[in-house]
Amino acid sequence: MRLFLDTANIDHIRHGVELGVISGVTTNPSLVSREGKVNYQQLVKEICSIVFPGPVSTEVLSQDAPGMIAEAREIAKWADNIVVKIPANLEGVKATSVLSKENIKVNFTLCFSLNQALLGAAAGATFISPFVGRLDDIGEDGMKVVLDIAQFLCYYQLSTQVIAASIRHPQHCIMAAKAGAHIATVPYRVLLQMIQHPLTDIGVKRFIQDWRTVMGEEKIVPTMKNSTLVRS
Ligand code: E4P
Repeated sequence: MRLFLDTANIDHIRHGVELGVISGVTTNPSLVSREGKVNYQQLVKEICSIVFPGPVSTEVLSQDAPGMIAEAREIAKWADNIVVKIPANLEGVKATSVLSKENIKVNFTLCFSLNQALLGAAAGATFISPFVGRLDDIGEDGMKVVLDIAQFLCYYQLSTQVIAASIRHPQHCIMAAKAGAHIATVPYRVLLQMIQHPLTDIGVKRFIQDWRTVMGEEKIVPTMKNSTLVRS
């Protein structure tokens, strides 16, 4: 399962890319608005250059198919790795069908059911994003929808990929991987939480203490200054 960052924050994206584990970004108008008043196009272009060639999803705001198509065609010119987010409704299906034939990549977003995913895939969406956390919020099983979509795409050997979205905590990442999601798009906070384990920190501390007890400040790999290699 690949990891995308679900944010529009440049510092967080740079850090994720530096770690070498982030291969794409998803944004939405709410995430962009958290960055204050910005030049939207400029911000998205910068994100595209940081994660290139990884895909960067950005949303259309029009509510009818002609408007979505016109917006998407413009957005698609911003960068080679841009993906246009189109909502999983009837107008969105219509727009996705047109855009996919023009080779404009679509992330069929705000997806909450397998039926919506069936239509998104039939329309030629590159990605389908079931929103796990928002389904959990209303007492449904968000991850079950990810599992159903992943199984359907696999069974029919479709090239559409499922992005587990609206991820709220590290347990969601584990469940998404087990459900067979191609990608999980995670908030920066969750990315940092994923690596945390107290036993790792305790283990690292103990190895250093035990080494120092016998070897003092001697390094395992000798430096230019001190080239005596001591190994136990
Ligand atoms: C994904 O593409 C969306 O931007 C995102 O995952 C929405 O998550 P939320 O429910 O936390 O807003």
